[in-house]
Amino acid sequence: MKNIYSNIYSFDKKILKKTVNSLKQGNIAALPTETVYGLAGNACSKKAIKKIFKLKKRPNYNPLIIHYHSIKSAKKDVILNSNFFKLYKKYCPGPLTFVLKKTKKTRINQLATAKLKTVAIRFPKHKIIREILKVTDFPLAMPSANLSSGLSPITAIDVHKEFKKKLNIIINGGKSKIGIESTVIDLTEKPKILRPGIISAKDIKKSLKIVLSLKKTKIKSPGMLKKHYSPGIPVVIGGKPKRYDHAYIFLGRKKIKKNNYFNLSKKSDLKEAASNLYKTMRKIKELGYKKIFVAKIPNFGPGIAINDRLTRASK
Ligand code: TXA
Ligand code: MG
Repeated sequence: MKNIYSNIYSFDKKILKKTVNSLKQGNIAALPTETVYGLAGNACSKKAIKKIFKLKKRPNYNPLIIHYHSIKSAKKDVILNSNFFKLYKKYCPGPLTFVLKKTKKTRINQLATAKLKTVAIRFPKHKIIREILKVTDFPLAMPSANLSSGLSPITAIDVHKEFKKKLNIIINGGKSKIGIESTVIDLTEKPKILRPGIISAKDIKKSLKIVLSLKKTKIKSPGMLKKHYSPGIPVVIGGKPKRYDHAYIFLGRKKIKKNNYFNLSKKSDLKEAASNLYKTMRKIKELGYKKIFVAKIPNFGPGIAINDRLTRASK
């Protein structure tokens, strides 16, 4: 029987070899990480980077995150500093991305970093991406595997729905556990969170024993400004749906059983809610609802990251 998902593979030695060879030739593969699925390409190859931007329809001024297996490899491309080492020790591999200055001899193609003097780097934790990074002798540029401004995918099927047969390889690594993108922190000067995530500002403050910068300097991540994380239908924060074709997203133990009501976490656990956010918005869109109303989400811990994504989705 013909499998409509013929470009989705389970992970084994054979697909590992096939993927690494394909990446070496400048091709793109969709790979799982613990945050969201990514579109991976050789970060040193102009050909690969161009393909990533084209596939995602991403504006060329929005730089990509470069993924590594180890510090040894990263140090060739970026200047590591003491704040980096403190955070690396505590959280890596894991859902934290560091913006650092480029080294003179950096191997990263300048299109990947939108010609900036800085590079965003990450050491992902998912077993499959770690195995792939371990045997490639170049880092991987890897934005989330969705069309620019849409929702990040958290399963191989989400990726397939987005790109269909435009990808030769999508590796199935199960549902991404964290379910939203990594925290991005700028460490080039006084540490500053550029994109909130599961690792919160409070966690980072504790580890660095410093106050984070809240300075509104010139925006370092152009991509973080625009409308983003959109499920493709309007999102409204606050208020409740009054029509059957409008959906409602909320938290906690409300005893309402309505078809158009979707609970992110019965226990009001914000980490669980974050992991269910994109999944739920995708489902609502696929079920044909025309608008999403969202209840107020507490603005602490992972709630800050949830509110960041919802605010942008509602723009
Ligand atoms: O969890 C994640 O980080 C996922 C997985 C696949 O690793 N990747 C991801 O990549 O979310 P992407 O491209 O969707 O988001 C990267 C964000 C963008 O908002 C971009 O503007 C910012 O990182 N960024 C990249 N390089 C930067 C730099 N040099 N300075 C400031 N921001 C940067
Ligand atoms: Mg993205």
